[in-house]
Amino acid sequence: MHRLTNRHILIGITGGIAAYKAAELTRLFKGVGAEVRVVLTDAGAEFITPLTLQALSGNPVHQSLLDPEAEQGMGHIELARWADLIIVAPATADFMARFAGGMANDLLTTLCLATDAPIALAPAMNQAMWRDPRTQQNLETLLSQGVNIFGPGSGEQACGDTGPGRMIDPTDILASCANLIANGPLNEKSVVITAGPTREAIDPVRFISNHSSGKMGFELASAAAKAGANVTLIAGPVSLPTPKGVRRVDVESAEQMLEAALVASEQADIFIGAAAVADYRPQLVAEQKIKKGAEEVMEILLTKNPDIIATIAGQPERPLMIGFAAETENLVEYARSKLVRKGLDLVIANDVSQADIGFNADQNEVILVGPNGELPLPKAGKSELAEQLISHISQLMD
Ligand code: C5P
Repeated sequence: MHRLTNRHILIGITGGIAAYKAAELTRLFKGVGAEVRVVLTDAGAEFITPLTLQALSGNPVHQSLLDPEAEQGMGHIELARWADLIIVAPATADFMARFAGGMANDLLTTLCLATDAPIALAPAMNQAMWRDPRTQQNLETLLSQGVNIFGPGSGEQACGDTGPGRMIDPTDILASCANLIANGPLNEKSVVITAGPTREAIDPVRFISNHSSGKMGFELASAAAKAGANVTLIAGPVSLPTPKGVRRVDVESAEQMLEAALVASEQADIFIGAAAVADYRPQLVAEQKIKKGAEEVMEILLTKNPDIIATIAGQPERPLMIGFAAETENLVEYARSKLVRKGLDLVIANDVSQADIGFNADQNEVILVGPNGELPLPKAGKSELAEQLISHISQLMD
């Protein structure tokens, strides 16, 4: 899997003759499985049509900051958050000046100010404009602020001059962008994580569920993405923001979670089951809201849910399988029996009898139970622990 697969790439196109090469760049990003959105400045639109870029990116092109219709679809702040990487290609002298000056006078500069994602520019301009001390000063400012500058190349220019200022080739821009995406032990690995509770419907307004917050699974997804993995997070109903660089699939019931997990794990290298899946669901879901009757007791017949992690572990070409065991006693013994019974490679066991760790808490303390032994990890915040767990898990891939 390519490092850019499933990544959210925002391509900014400003007004230079090299804008036509942005079409090829868009195609290249799509070719490696990235999700692409294009932001075109007014000057950019003089060189290339939004229709071309819409067809190539598969998404509507964003052109204006204060367009109520576009804001309804994906507002500018949402777009800034959506991006895992912003690449401005071509970046004109004017764009560099406006960005270096902290301007937010169009959609693209606004997004660049509002995003947390890495930003890269592929400058393209006449050689004299590139050499101009003001452009060079803007370049210095941008570099000192952590903006990545790819190129420019040197050679014959559209205006007939020869010198520095040519936009580098789209293939080189793609490769440089790939290097900016999180780099770590899980590079090019695909990780599927289930998280949160499931909801099992009783009738249209009621359900059976549990108190799982989804925090551990979300932290693991974030840590895996930071380690360079391509992460699909299958989340039950939780109120947590999607971690940066993670593809999220929302589900409600265990059956929906299984379906999503089967699809996502086809290409996966690692599967982590952090979800607190409801063991049982109502056998019959009432079509209408169940009315309160005269009886003092009512019965709901439950049927067993599929075991998601055991189902995936039983597939012929299965990923490395990691499960959780939340126990109130006999921690290691129960975790080991889960390891064997569900056909897993590692079980992360935690004691949920203590209120300050595990279920719905911010901290956790776990014991890793593998086929050849146990390794306790000390109590830590879920985010720190997630990083340690991802580091252990990546070693199992070697
Ligand atoms: O059997 P138990 O629920 O204790 O097992 C916990 C592990 O199994 C967790 O990794 C959980 O995500 C997974 N699991 C599952 N499907 C179920 C029940 C549990 O994937 N139906």
